[in-house]
Amino acid sequence: MTTRVVRNIGELTTNDPAIGDESSLGRLLDAAMVVDDERVLWIGPNANAPDADEAFDAKNGAVIPGFVDSHTHLVFAGERSDEFEARMAGVHYDGGGIGRTVGATRAASRDELRQGTKKRIAELFAGGVTTVEIKSGYELTTEGEARELEIAQEFTDEVTWLGAHVVPPEFKNNREGYVELLCSTMLDSCAPLAKWADVFCDRGAFSVEEAREVLERSRAEGLLLRLHANQLAHSGAVALAVELDAASVDHCTFLEDSDIDLLSASATVATLLPGAEFSTRSEYPSARRLLDAGVTVALATDCNPGSSYVTSMAFVMALAVREMFMSIDEALFAATKGGALALRRNDVGHLGIGARADFAILDAPRAAHLVYRPGGNVVRDAYRSSKS
Ligand code: NIG
Ligand code: FE
Repeated sequence: MTTRVVRNIGELTTNDPAIGDESSLGRLLDAAMVVDDERVLWIGPNANAPDADEAFDAKNGAVIPGFVDSHTHLVFAGERSDEFEARMAGVHYDGGGIGRTVGATRAASRDELRQGTKKRIAELFAGGVTTVEIKSGYELTTEGEARELEIAQEFTDEVTWLGAHVVPPEFKNNREGYVELLCSTMLDSCAPLAKWADVFCDRGAFSVEEAREVLERSRAEGLLLRLHANQLAHSGAVALAVELDAASVDHCTFLEDSDIDLLSASATVATLLPGAEFSTRSEYPSARRLLDAGVTVALATDCNPGSSYVTSMAFVMALAVREMFMSIDEALFAATKGGALALRRNDVGHLGIGARADFAILDAPRAAHLVYRPGGNVVRDAYRSSKS
């Protein structure tokens, strides 16, 4: 296996408190790192860097763990910029446009869907993402959802079945029939293709009772759980996520104190998606209330054509800092280690010894430039471990 030494790292963020300044960011200045094709082997002062088969010069740039984008809807066809334009003129987002993407996605060929997904993945990776979760949810038929999951599998192991995104038009007057389909034929076909099950549990989508049924059946088929909750209104979805030990509850735009108490006593991560609030001109979630209560927070893009056509984790961090009052370090941690925890992964999101060799080298001396210079791409190179 080839070893590589990265020298002249101006600021290295490891997210391993055992390294460097002993903060949760585990930071080391004037550092070097040795990796092989799969893992981090050595971290220390630049002056002590050992030799390796190959050498890279970080040119005093910062190095960070690769971003873990734990929430995306990348497999879709079409676009909805007209809805975005209308929202900027005052129209309210209610998820009603999801059906338009379902129509466009059903009409697209497998190869069109694959090419669109590949293009969006390339944008994410160019911005420093090294782990990505991808959901289905834009076909809402047994064959279509399976097709979306198969395409997602070509790009990641973190594949999520979101058959319970909304009730499709052909079941408009028979939602019980759709929940029954979800819990039987569709689940049987999709469970072998996915790692996770997700439900959009919100106003206009699925109720807490319906979500519970889908999630409990999914768990019985071996899927791990996550939940879209409280994007459009307050509901009991956070309590449901905690009760079912979901790895993550996502959006959390509307939260009551009781939700925060439940989350802080749980292993469920609160994943915030400020690209959605930006793109729907909605109120941002209260990251400070969550962080101050000790809740683990993740940041993700929610990349989708309706509520958040965003492929830049740096932009998401900038929103988190500017609009949600997270510190830059809190945002960086949430976009890396937080995302890993939201996927229950301990091999990514950090650069401790033995972690996967997934990292980004910045064209900037400090990671703060990710937020300080919004709109550009300060990621010079992103490296992904060859181990899948
Ligand atoms: O996470 N909220 C539900 N699903 C997506 C939006 C889907 C769409 O508008 O197409 C979200 O924001
Ligand atoms: Fe989403």
